[in-house]
Amino acid sequence: RSVGGVDYYELTERAAEAELLPGLRTPIWGYGGTFPGPTLQASRGRRTVVKLVNQLGEPTVLHLHGGHTPPESDGFPTDLVAPGASREYVFPLEQRAATLWYHDHRMDFTGPQVWRGLAGMFLVRDPEEEALPLPSGERDLPLLICDRSFGADGAMLYPGLEARPGVREAYMGGVLGDVILVNGAPWPELRVARARYRLRLCNASNARAYELATGGPMIQIAGDGGLLAAPRTVRQLRLAPGERAEVVVDFGAYKIGQRVELRNLAGEGAQARVMRFAVDRDEADDSAVPGRLSTVEALDPARATVTRDFEFSGGGMHGGMGWLINGRPFDARRMEARPKLGDIEVWRLTSDVAHPVHLHLDHFQVLSVNGERPAGPPEWKDTVELRDAQTVEIVTRFTDYRGRYVLHCHNLEHEDMAMMAAFEVV
Ligand code: C2O
Ligand code: CU
Ligand code: CU
Repeated sequence: RSVGGVDYYELTERAAEAELLPGLRTPIWGYGGTFPGPTLQASRGRRTVVKLVNQLGEPTVLHLHGGHTPPESDGFPTDLVAPGASREYVFPLEQRAATLWYHDHRMDFTGPQVWRGLAGMFLVRDPEEEALPLPSGERDLPLLICDRSFGADGAMLYPGLEARPGVREAYMGGVLGDVILVNGAPWPELRVARARYRLRLCNASNARAYELATGGPMIQIAGDGGLLAAPRTVRQLRLAPGERAEVVVDFGAYKIGQRVELRNLAGEGAQARVMRFAVDRDEADDSAVPGRLSTVEALDPARATVTRDFEFSGGGMHGGMGWLINGRPFDARRMEARPKLGDIEVWRLTSDVAHPVHLHLDHFQVLSVNGERPAGPPEWKDTVELRDAQTVEIVTRFTDYRGRYVLHCHNLEHEDMAMMAAFEVV
């Protein structure tokens, strides 16, 4: 709905049932009662208001992941919307076109609430991107990927919601499901024409990272923060929880009757199966992937006013202390950093085991991984996966909004076990 230059959406969180597995009814919590929630569309610089109506029996928080959002609408983990209450979130969207997503962000309960279904995709478009001849319309596909586990009756299983042996261990590492769902369906098949398609891949899993591959070349055109400077051809693509990537796949390279499988090389059996494309017709295709996509300004670390350290490590396995940043559990009142508005800063992130680290408010660029510069031109990201015992340096600039935000591990169980820090832009 559009009212006076503002795009207006209403999302009602409700308990519902969905047929995720054939013939079974799964109780979910969904935005609008669906799993996942609807894909919302927005335009750069056009104010979008989302009214959240909470009809669940628990408090919730809405966060637009990747959104450049004023603090009061960013879904700070303690800004709760009580059961029966509602509120409006305002997204000015002064940011480049990108594939974002929205999800619950309630302190200590994000993992189970997202698991039940509180997640959806959010596409920001802009004229720069629209001027490119990339595949569009029905050939522009938002694909929200997440894993879930189910009982025989179709109910989703989440450790801690029921007591099973080994539950605590499963929870500490982050909760993995044994079925991969794409837009809420297991191993779905989509019929496609012999043409180029744009796949907007979003890893909305609580804790699973994927290595996605089709068996043929994929042309990556965008990451978390929108278009890359130039396309790059990849044979496989790693996507940690929270990350997005966009690829163009040319099904014109296949024959009618062929099936192309999108598989997860990091999984086996059912955890390797993501989705299938059945090539079933010829259709005109005037799309193309230009050799230059966008201009990505390189943030200069020499202009950084400060370098800050954030150590991501666990005390959970042994002492029952959970997962920590700089040795401390999340405290909504303690500001771990106070960057100045307009400043460029370098943040040095270190890990014990793998942690996908996500920063709110502004996108960043990766400067180095264990001291090595990443290959290729700079790219805007909002989530970066630290592998075991890594040091990753990122550079960012704090723009437009003063106030409180968070930085956290996007393994949602780690986040719920307090691997989160608040910072305040001053
Ligand atoms: Cu995708 Cu702070 O969240
Ligand atoms: Cu976020
Ligand atoms: Cu983690």
